Amino acid sequence: MMKILIIEDEPSVRVGLSFTLESKGHKITTAENGLDGIRIFEREGFDIVISDLRLPGADGIEVLKSIKNISPDTGVIIMTAFADVKNAVEAMREGAYDYISKPFEPDELLIVIDRFIKHKGLELENIRLKEEIRERERFQHIIGTSPAMQRIFETIEVIAKTDSSVIIYGESGTGKELVANALHNLSPRKDKPFIKINCAAIPETLLESELFGHEKGAFTGAVQRRKGKFEAASGGTIFLDEIGDMPLALQAKLLRVLESHTFERLGGNESLTIDVRVIYATRKNLKDEVKANRFREDLFYRLNVLPITLPPLRDRKEDIPLLVNHFLKMFGEKLEKSDLAVTPGTMDMFMEYDYPGNVRELKHSVEMAATLCKGTKIERWCLPAEIRGDGETPDAVISVFDDLPLTERVKTFEREAIRRVLEETHGKKKEAAKKLGISRETLWRKLKEHGFPVSPSDLEE
Ligand SMILES: Nc1ncnc2c1ncn2[C@@H]1O[C@H](COP(=O)(O)OP(=O)(O)OP(=O)(O)O)[C@@H](O)[C@H]1O
Ligand SMILES: [Mg+2]
Repeated sequence: MMKILIIEDEPSVRVGLSFTLESKGHKITTAENGLDGIRIFEREGFDIVISDLRLPGADGIEVLKSIKNISPDTGVIIMTAFADVKNAVEAMREGAYDYISKPFEPDELLIVIDRFIKHKGLELENIRLKEEIRERERFQHIIGTSPAMQRIFETIEVIAKTDSSVIIYGESGTGKELVANALHNLSPRKDKPFIKINCAAIPETLLESELFGHEKGAFTGAVQRRKGKFEAASGGTIFLDEIGDMPLALQAKLLRVLESHTFERLGGNESLTIDVRVIYATRKNLKDEVKANRFREDLFYRLNVLPITLPPLRDRKEDIPLLVNHFLKMFGEKLEKSDLAVTPGTMDMFMEYDYPGNVRELKHSVEMAATLCKGTKIERWCLPAEIRGDGETPDAVISVFDDLPLTERVKTFEREAIRRVLEETHGKKKEAAKKLGISRETLWRKLKEHGFPVSPSDLEE
């Protein structure tokens, strides 16, 4: 039902149109001249205005201009005399939705109105979709509509703008690095460097020089001066990942640096000033680490000013369908498989699983399913065994293919067998080949046949 205003000085046309449109369920108001029309429009507002071009008081073009001024979204349809093409063109230029030449059949007008309604609907749908996408991708592709994630987004938005240090807690795979990225990208430092360093991945002896740099000859092997990450991040942000794994001796040095805002390169005595924002992350509970004397209490209090804790995926399962579809689209594009979709039963399985590896595990599972599936449907048998659940015997899996010809069934069984062994061996091809009792060359050929990702190095490993 649309609210329609008809502006027409000829009574018979006015009454006729009202009757036709009312019978289609629209709500009709009429005016006899242009000025009244504008006044009524201002007072009541309408979805559609059907106005004659030649009118006493303001003419059709003036009516059109006033209405577009008050409400640009209203659809204005101008009725013109047959010979009035020039004016009709002007009306279109002024923003009329369409024009219709008199005399016309009621059906002609109804078609124009229907087209407008459809157009309006599509426009609204488009706006809604765009807003939805924007909402979801607001923070550098961090997906989540659960209340917990929405709160995290709000927090990120607020504290990104401050210069304060932030510590991100969360189990492995919950998105700590994504959040660190977002914090930098939404901050005033976004055009300056963003430097990451993983404190757990670098040997203790090298970590200090990685962070603060060294002068030539500072230690054996220091053949030339090297800038550290703090220097490289100058003006920007440094991300100290896995801070809970930083050795105690270095924790003491870091604390000194944070307190004085200055540091020296290893083996150097020039004092350099720090201008970096520091973001920390850890999958450990730092309080427990403090209790166990593995983390300095004073440093803990210094770091723990603005904590963000990312909830494990099992505590926000409502985000799973969104994440599955997001990753499906992503891997679909990568694998050049379009229109991939998860069957409802498969989605239930994705929802039921607890994901000890959190979003990272879900992402890898979707990638695997997208790689394995035939056609566009992601069926349960494409899922990793953990997600599919233990009750699933190979027999039951294979019975899904009862309708397939024998060669297809054999192929499916072979693919499933290989996939399972790869899972067991964590992708180690040499071990997998041994378990399957085939040569590595044969395994490589079969992997390719079944569309598993392979690289030439798989033959060498
Ligand atoms: N909310 C999310 N939306 C989209 N992708 C996500 C989300 N959370 C995590 N991911 C993806 O999951 C993977 C793991 O995320 P990330 O590396 O940020 O986790 P992490 O908490 O730093 O893990 P770890 O402690 O193991 O380093 C990445 O590929 C990331 O893109
Ligand atoms: Mg990480």
